[in-house]
Amino acid sequence: MPDDAAPSNTAIDWAELRARAHEASRTAYAPYSNFHVGAAGLVDDGRIVTGCNVENASYGLTLCAECALVCDLHRGGGGRLVAVTVTDADGELLAPCGRCRQLLLEAGGPDCAVNENTTVAELLPGAFEFPLPQD
Ligand code: THU
Repeated sequence: MPDDAAPSNTAIDWAELRARAHEASRTAYAPYSNFHVGAAGLVDDGRIVTGCNVENASYGLTLCAECALVCDLHRGGGGRLVAVTVTDADGELLAPCGRCRQLLLEAGGPDCAVNENTTVAELLPGAFEFPLPQD
């Protein structure tokens, strides 16, 4: 495998990602829904980024756990998400919401693995992709 290639699915420690997502759910601020969510992602340089949901009295401005995860990705130096797991407060897997599928597409691309058994491409078929200028 070339050095710049993403690790194969077998190189992804899903148990670790799930544990880190579960741990992140404990830091959620969700007094309105009382639904605590955590997300963890493996970056192509090997680091793990995490996020939790943060709600707001306006409801519509709620930040999903995946939003915080993508912020953590950029704050930690950027890179590409290879795999993402999302859980509730019991550590049970959750499907990312529609908005977050678009976020994950931009941060990980269509081949980014999600919750061990699917990919961003499968979760978001026919996705909108803006033609970013090449740098
Ligand atoms: N939530 C997430 O954090 N991620 C998702 O993909 C779906 C929903 C949060 C938002 C809100 O704080 C709570 O779950 C209930 O919808």
